[in-house]
Amino acid sequence: MSLQSFFGPKSVAIVGASRQKGKVGYEILTNLVAGGYPGKIFPINPKADEIEGLKCYPDLASIGETPELVIIIVPAQLVAGVLEECAKVRVKSAIIITAGFKEVGPEGKKLEEEIVRIARRAGIRFIGPNCLGVIAPGHKLNASFGGDLPVPGSIGYISQSGALLAAILDLANANGIGFSSLVSIGNKADIDELDVINAFGEQPETKVIAGYLESITDGDVFVREAEEISNRKPILLMKSGSTAAGAKAASSHTGSLAGGEVAYESAFKRAGVIRCDSIKQQFDFAQAFASQPLPQGPTVAVITNAGGPGIMAADAIEEQGLTFAKLSEETRKKLAAKLPAAANVHNPVDVLGDALADRYEFALDIVLDDPNVQSVVVLLTPQAMTQAKETAEAVVKIVGQKKSGKPVLACFLGAAKVDEGVQILRRGGIPQYDSPESAVTTLKAMVDFVRWRTRPKRVVRLFPVNRRKVESIVERHLRRGLLDIGEAEAKEIIEAYGFATPKGSIATTAEQAGNIAQQLGFPVVLKIWSPDILHKSDVGGVKVGLRSEQEVRDAFDLMMYRIPKKRPDAHILGVLVQEMVRSGKEVIIGMHRDPHFGPLMMFGMGGIMVEVLKDVSFYLAPLTAEEAKQMLLNTKTYHILKGVRGQEGVDIEAIAEGLQRVAQLVTEFPEIKEMDINPFVVGAPGTTPIAVDARISLEKK
Ligand code: COA
Repeated sequence: MSLQSFFGPKSVAIVGASRQKGKVGYEILTNLVAGGYPGKIFPINPKADEIEGLKCYPDLASIGETPELVIIIVPAQLVAGVLEECAKVRVKSAIIITAGFKEVGPEGKKLEEEIVRIARRAGIRFIGPNCLGVIAPGHKLNASFGGDLPVPGSIGYISQSGALLAAILDLANANGIGFSSLVSIGNKADIDELDVINAFGEQPETKVIAGYLESITDGDVFVREAEEISNRKPILLMKSGSTAAGAKAASSHTGSLAGGEVAYESAFKRAGVIRCDSIKQQFDFAQAFASQPLPQGPTVAVITNAGGPGIMAADAIEEQGLTFAKLSEETRKKLAAKLPAAANVHNPVDVLGDALADRYEFALDIVLDDPNVQSVVVLLTPQAMTQAKETAEAVVKIVGQKKSGKPVLACFLGAAKVDEGVQILRRGGIPQYDSPESAVTTLKAMVDFVRWRTRPKRVVRLFPVNRRKVESIVERHLRRGLLDIGEAEAKEIIEAYGFATPKGSIATTAEQAGNIAQQLGFPVVLKIWSPDILHKSDVGGVKVGLRSEQEVRDAFDLMMYRIPKKRPDAHILGVLVQEMVRSGKEVIIGMHRDPHFGPLMMFGMGGIMVEVLKDVSFYLAPLTAEEAKQMLLNTKTYHILKGVRGQEGVDIEAIAEGLQRVAQLVTEFPEIKEMDINPFVVGAPGTTPIAVDARISLEKK
């Protein structure tokens, strides 16, 4: 959907334009005028003939023409009436600044529903309510009470918090950062974040999409559409307000570890959205993405006039997992030919404390030509003879002349002494950072983004499975209102999706238990068998490592004596006698269905690694083979699984396949709310991994 009427309307009516300085309706009108808006402005106020020299109209109908955009700033109870007026004169786009809707409680919610109804009926699209407005510097449109119109630029900004947008605007204006548009979406009763992000995606003047969000309306669609847009334009988001409410209600391991935060993280990863931790970081990233080419790879060269910051940059490059570029011999020779003997011609190139602008110019020119270099950080500290201004000019000049296709980031450290240089860099489109770490972190975000963009096409393998079997179990449970699937049927489900489970049968007498154990071979495990007992260990319903028929019979009798006392309500069907799976490492494969983003897969090492260390990783289903493997790689325990210090590793591919199979199961059965296969015991490559226990719970769709 194009939001062009919001960014570049030919005429704007302000309903609730006020005569009184300090009122929102006055500030918006004067901001629009002060910004130099070239279209027609129609202030609407029944009590005024003119405001600030502009003719006032008592209502929309009196204008005599249809304004392309209407800004509504009347008290909440009057907004519905104004929208009805809009409908009558065929207005199609509105911004509702007024607060006092959904955010204030049930009464406000009703009012909001009413305005949505009116708008839908009349085909009016609106931004807000409870928002700060819209700003489009290229169209000289400041339809907000956020502050002065910023300079035009190529960042499209969306914010769910009006107050934050005001702060961002102030900060950007102080630093000369330009925008294509800024949109405060407020309660997003009609136009939501995705509408705006999509509009930015289509806008030629927007190169980078940035924003602050507290919630995402439709997670599934967001991931799909953001992924599509990220292929064309980077999306940089700050996200707050992820709650762990979903996690609290969870009964599985996966559920309790998968808070909303994890789901957002995974969704952003899938969609290529770059997450920013702070406003500062977002600006750091946005400037580089907006003004610099993307790096072709991870190698970074540093040019500096001081050793310390050079080392700081080198440390940051290492910590971030980037590569310190090894300069070619030719580069080193060329540098050595002109730089003083004491200069370092290896990376970081140290042009020395007495360097004037010419040394920087020369070094940057040579270093950018080096095929081993994929990005450059220019560091400068203001020493006695340092020419910050001239150096900045030299950097801008070389970058402009060479068009190397490599990003160049500057870090002029200091304050007053470098300020003029910093301004020149900014005007010249060279992003400037206040520390080497910030510059390097920005490069890392760019390198990661390039990796994401050049990722292999997502191909999800479909395994041959017995879907009908699962369908019948799920349907039967739902029909009876049973939401927890017992162990036996949970195992049938995963067996239908290709998992091997331990052998075993149900015994109803001690003697039978002994016989089954004899057939299976010792040791065996005994588990109480009751549809009413989900947590068997809690009632003493699991006994492992039984080594003889006698031990099995005794354990059986003890369970049958004790458990009915503890759980007189439980219908006990017998005891499961099961082979004991011993060799291999225990891992967990799980899924928690996030309310916004759908099935979120989890992988973790079993035992304390998951409970205490929480060394787990998540990804949204369905999974490709690469993504499944990446989930393993994202945990520390991956190294243990691979085998450390001569220990034989386990079958990594088998775990990755297990993850893909569960991902297929939960994608094909949206009724599965959460599940764990725990433990999933994997042995050496080539051996069959065993899903020892499984827990599955359902929800009605
Ligand atoms: N059509 C046009 N103008 C009307 C009108 C109507 N039907 N009814 C009243 N007006 C005029 C009033 O006469 C007044 O003009 P005046 O000051 O020249 O007399 C003007 O509209 C504003 O009305 P008023 O009743 O004085 O309201 P207000 O300015 O005190 O408050 C809001 C209105 C919308 C600003 C307020 O209700 C509000 O929501 N404030 C919070 C805004 C906010 O924070 N938004 C979110 C930001 S993130």
